[in-house]
Amino acid sequence: MRLAPGYFSAAQQAALVEEVLALAAAAPFVTPRLPRTGAAMSVVQTNFGPLGWVTDQALGYRYEPAHPETGAPWPPIPDVLLELWRAVADYGAPPEACLVNLYRGGARMGLHLDADEAARDAPVVSVSLGDTAVFRIGGPRRQDPTRSFRLASGDVVVLSGPSRHFHHGVDRVLAGTSRLLPGGGRLNLTLRRVTPPQ
Ligand code: SIN
Ligand code: FE2
Repeated sequence: MRLAPGYFSAAQQAALVEEVLALAAAAPFVTPRLPRTGAAMSVVQTNFGPLGWVTDQALGYRYEPAHPETGAPWPPIPDVLLELWRAVADYGAPPEACLVNLYRGGARMGLHLDADEAARDAPVVSVSLGDTAVFRIGGPRRQDPTRSFRLASGDVVVLSGPSRHFHHGVDRVLAGTSRLLPGGGRLNLTLRRVTPPQ
């Protein structure tokens, strides 16, 4: 994996947060639910782009072209994120999904694989905004050893090559480490290619 600390300046971060929250007004954050059990995840999520990652009790993990509650197509991926992808992804096609995770209160994300994309060779590019997260990454098998490090506001992570298929998650978010988000917390923007390019 690659970590680019402080990829976005404070001014760029503020503009990006403003844009994301404005787009999220048309595509409200929803509580994702795990397949089968229906247990709520602790983050809330929305998406931008032609496809969005969603999960609910009945149908589980999948990509959908429209918001599950409004039925409207997801808002477009902000230009600055398409530019980021062109700069760091080294991939011959644009991302199709930008998953937006909002961490508030004690929200976290358990160790998991990003495995719902047919374009398995495309990297995953993610942006951290707001409070610092303790990010954990392991290996291809769940029982592989892991290590953790902090992701601060403006940092960019690229999971490519073997690390694209490594387990990862967020142990916790360090409340009060940033004043970027109104009301506090952390936003994570994850860019993914879903379908193999023609
Ligand atoms: C994710 O793996 O979907 C989110 C990672 C993060 O919030 O940094
Ligand atoms: Fe992930």
